[in-house]
Amino acid sequence: MSQLKLSKGSWSTQSVFIMAAVGSAVGLGNLWKFPYITGEYGGGAFVLVYLFCILLIGIPVLFSEFILGRNGKANPVQAMANVARENNGSKAWAALGFNGVLAGLLILSFYSVIAGWALFYFVESVQGKFVGADAKAVGNLFEGLLGSQVELIFWHSLFALTTIVIVAKGLKSGIEKAINFLMPGLFFILLILLGYATTTGYFAQSFEFLFKPDFSKLTWNAVLVAMGHAFFTLSLGMGSMMVYASYVSKQHSIVKAGLWIAFADTIIALLAGLVIFSIVFANGLEPGAGPGLLFQTLPVAFGEMAGGWLFGSLFFALVVMAALSSAISLIEPAVSWFEQNWAMSRIKAAWLLGAIVWVIGLGTVLSFNAWADLHFLPEKSFFDSIDFITANIMLPLGGLMMTIFIAWVMKKQVVEAELELQTELLNVFYFIIKWIAPIAVIIVFASNLVSKENLWPMIAVSIGVYLVYLVNKVRAGGVAER
Ligand code: TRP
Repeated sequence: MSQLKLSKGSWSTQSVFIMAAVGSAVGLGNLWKFPYITGEYGGGAFVLVYLFCILLIGIPVLFSEFILGRNGKANPVQAMANVARENNGSKAWAALGFNGVLAGLLILSFYSVIAGWALFYFVESVQGKFVGADAKAVGNLFEGLLGSQVELIFWHSLFALTTIVIVAKGLKSGIEKAINFLMPGLFFILLILLGYATTTGYFAQSFEFLFKPDFSKLTWNAVLVAMGHAFFTLSLGMGSMMVYASYVSKQHSIVKAGLWIAFADTIIALLAGLVIFSIVFANGLEPGAGPGLLFQTLPVAFGEMAGGWLFGSLFFALVVMAALSSAISLIEPAVSWFEQNWAMSRIKAAWLLGAIVWVIGLGTVLSFNAWADLHFLPEKSFFDSIDFITANIMLPLGGLMMTIFIAWVMKKQVVEAELELQTELLNVFYFIIKWIAPIAVIIVFASNLVSKENLWPMIAVSIGVYLVYLVNKVRAGGVAER
C-alpha cells in the first residue's frame, strides 16, 4: 500500500461535511436551472419524473459516490484506481475519474458565466435599480446584459477568479468558512419570497403548474433532461461528492448525510420554483422563457415588495455564494488530481485549471450574442451543447458506472461497513443499484437514441466513451502504481 495516494485533509466535524456537501448540491441548479427547465418542459409531469429520479437514482448514486470517495480516499481518478485495485477490478475504472474531471471543468465553464449574471444583478440591486421596476424594465436590463460581451466577460472573470482564489487556499481555510452561514441565509430569504408569492394572487396557479402532472407534455427528451437534472442538482456523476467524501472520517454516517443533502436540495429547488412561477403568472410572463427566467422574474418581486431593496441585494448575494460553494466542488476533483498525481502545488493547479475553464466559458458568453445562431450539437448553441453533453450524458453515465462498480465489483463487506445499514435496508440498496438505477438510466438513454431528437449527440458520445475506454485499456495514465 505504500504508494497508494491518499487525501490528507479531513473535515472538522460531521456537520461541516454535510454543510459542504449541501453547499455543493445547492446552487444555480436549484435556483436558476430547475425553474427554467421545468418551465420549458411544461411543469408537473416533468417535476414528478425529476422527483422519482432523485429518489430512485439520485440518492442511491449519492451513497455510491460517498462509498467510493471515503473508501478510495483520494481524488476521483486515483480513488477509482484505488478501489478497483483493492477489489480486483480493472485499471480502466480510473476512466470514470477522468470523465468526472472533464465534466467538472466543462460544467464550471458555463456555471461561472451564469453566476456572473447573479453578480451583476447583485450590484444592480444594491444601486437600487430594481426599486419599482416592472417586468418590462427588468426584461430590458437582462437583454442588455446578454448583448454586452464586455459585461458578460467581466462578471464571468470576477466569479472565476473568486473560485480560483478560494480553491487555491485549500480545504479548511477556504471552503469550510464560506459555507457555514450561507445555507441558513438562503433558506430564510426563500421563505420571505414565498410569503411574497402568496400575495401575488397566483400562488395556487404556480402550485398547480408544479405539482399537477400533465403527461401529454412528457417526451423522452424531457425524461432525459429530468434525469440529467437529478444528477446535476445533487452534484453527482463526476466526483464532487466523491472528493468531499474522501475527507470524511470513518466514524461519520454517510447515509444520514446523504439523506439530509437530498432533502435540503429538493426543498430549496421546489421553493424557488413556487416563487418564480407565481411571479411569472402574475406578470403574464412566459414559463418557457429559458435560461433568463430567474433573472427576469425575481427582480419584479423585489421591485414591488416592501424591503425589496434589502431582500433583493441579499438574495443575489446569496445566489452568488451558493454558486460559489458549488463551483468549488466542480473544480476540486481536477485540482486534487493535479495536486496528488501530478505533483503540482494546489495553487498552481487552481490557477491553471481556472484559466482553462475561463477560456471555455468565453464560448458560453458568445452563445448569448455573437454566436447565438451558431449550432454545435444540432439545434443547440455552444452553451446548450455543453449543458446537454455534461448533464444529460456525462453525469448519468458516470453515475451508472459507479453503481455498476459498487454492485458488481466492490466486495459486499466493504459496502456494508461503509453504509452501516440493517440487513433489510442494505438489501434494498443493493436491489436499487443492481437493477433499478442502472436499468432506468439505460432505458432513458436508449429511448433518446431512438427518439431521433438526440440521435447524433448520443451516437457521438457513445463513440467518445468507447474511445476513452480503449485508450485506457492501453495506458492507464495519471494513476499511481502499487
Ligand atoms: N449541484 C450544483 C447545483 O445544483 C452544481 C454542481 C456542483 C454540480 N458540483 C457538481 C453538478 C457536480 C454536477 C456535478 O448548482
